[in-house]
Amino acid sequence: MSDFARCAVLGHPVAHSLSPRIHGEFAHELGITLQYEKVDVEPQDLSSWIESFFTGGGTGLNITLPHKHAAAALATRSSNAVVQAGAANVLSHGADGVIEADNFDGVALIRDLTERYRLDLRGHDTLLLGAGGAGRAAAFALFDAGVRSLTIVNRSSAAADALADALGQPGRVHNRYWNDLGSLGVFDLVINATSAGVLGKQLGLPFGLLTPRATCYDLCYGYAASEFLGWAKASSARYAYDGLGMLVEGSAQAFECWFGKHPDTEPVFTELRVEFPLPG
Ligand code: ATR
Repeated sequence: MSDFARCAVLGHPVAHSLSPRIHGEFAHELGITLQYEKVDVEPQDLSSWIESFFTGGGTGLNITLPHKHAAAALATRSSNAVVQAGAANVLSHGADGVIEADNFDGVALIRDLTERYRLDLRGHDTLLLGAGGAGRAAAFALFDAGVRSLTIVNRSSAAADALADALGQPGRVHNRYWNDLGSLGVFDLVINATSAGVLGKQLGLPFGLLTPRATCYDLCYGYAASEFLGWAKASSARYAYDGLGMLVEGSAQAFECWFGKHPDTEPVFTELRVEFPLPG
């Protein structure tokens, strides 16, 4: 048994990942000796890599694009959040030796919105852009946090339909076509959960979607969030935030899952905010 814990983030590509740095700072804060790697794994090698990592005594893995759906399928045990999202972003070695999957996107989003930005989500008419893994996680969490209504718009309508069905409660959940965005009315909260920004694609959103008190939130940060946040500013959003805080909160949740201690997220967030300022 080694005297340090081993963790890693798996993605393809993964060079941009801030996870080693965030977890390194958490480990330092809590006095845990941690070796945290960043590993670029091709999809066909994912399963064998994960298996040998855990057989070799690894403690935990963060999973990023494009492996989140495959990671959910690989695990022996999955949390409710994984089942809801159909995607996992954290894998751990269960006490009985099996691989356990979790997804902290939803809890991290709500913590960032309500604790860091002090937003009371109750009564918010919400527009969710995107119904992939991140969108699904966000939808269930927003719903649990008490938003008044959730309108889901996805490029392919089948994914929006499936998410609306899974959420149930047709009185509070509506799914609409992307092409109808200009005629949907106004919203208090608009969440961008698409991966368009990461892929370098434009969303081309229409104006006139926001109430005067509206908050806009992109689950991404940095360049990937810039088009959406620029649109939010031009639409006179009251607040426009990126997902940097969500990344840090989700990382803290993963850290607690592996080590049983919840780190203070504020020092890392403050440091990263200097490097990744909000536009404007
Ligand atoms: P993630 O884990 O980031 O959610 P995902 O499950 O692959 O990744 O989902 C990506 C989401 O971004 C989907 O909602 C996708 O829409 P489709 O279901 O139609 O593919 C959305 N998306 C990706 N590129 C987009 C674009 N250029 N415009 C609008 N939506 C886009």
